[in-house]
Amino acid sequence: MLNDPTLIPELDVRAIDGWTLHEFAEVTSTNSLAAHLPAWSAVRAGVQTAGRGRTGRPWVSDEGGLWLSAVVPTPGDPARWSLLPLAAGWAVRKVARALGVTAARLRWPNDILVGRQKLAGVLVDRFSADAAVVGIGLNVANRPEATDLALAGLVTRLADLLPDPPAPAALLVRLLTALTMEHHRLETGDVAGLCRDLNGAWLHRHVHVTLAGGRGAINGHLEGIDPFGSLLLRNPVGEVHVLPPHLIELLREIF
Ligand code: BTN
Repeated sequence: MLNDPTLIPELDVRAIDGWTLHEFAEVTSTNSLAAHLPAWSAVRAGVQTAGRGRTGRPWVSDEGGLWLSAVVPTPGDPARWSLLPLAAGWAVRKVARALGVTAARLRWPNDILVGRQKLAGVLVDRFSADAAVVGIGLNVANRPEATDLALAGLVTRLADLLPDPPAPAALLVRLLTALTMEHHRLETGDVAGLCRDLNGAWLHRHVHVTLAGGRGAINGHLEGIDPFGSLLLRNPVGEVHVLPPHLIELLREIF
């Protein structure tokens, strides 16, 4: 049973390619709702009143964007699933590119950018050991900067990039299909394939990394990620730091 204090009645429940999709006009956060659902469930809302971004930031989720959460099973060795946030970002990048946004790129770990502007973001929550919630926020025809002036110039939308962006219903089918494929790749143990794809695609590699817990910061060259999802960062004297995601508070690209 879905449990949300501000829940507006559900608009629709339907089956899509192996997924059960629950649609709402408005929720607090689709990730929070999805936490109560079994694997292969998905939740989409027209608006989120308390959308969540990575590192505890709010995520502006106004009308016209795609706010989607998908529950995927994560059986067996947890190490295999440490790359799930990266795999989910790769899935969104693939969809954006297939739509014609050929400049869509990833910024570690899973921001989808065009140039220096953010098109989409991914938040993976682990509410239990055997499943994860993959939350995807995609700016389509919404106006995030109208809600938060500080976002002006920092965000972009499919409507700015494509003459005729697909409707949310078509977009979510593409996203769920791409996510299923990337999930399958991890489930079958093809971590090397994912690392190869990702490491061939990082575009701006001169980065500034702020370490978590006040451990300082490192400027360096992003060498890539390793099969455990750690970031490999070469500092100016040539040493390579292996940084698991939980040790990284923020990565900024230096232009
Ligand atoms: C980020 O880049 O900070 C991640 C943003 C993730 C936003 C999505 S929108 C759907 C899902 N529900 C949430 O509350 N957050 C994610």
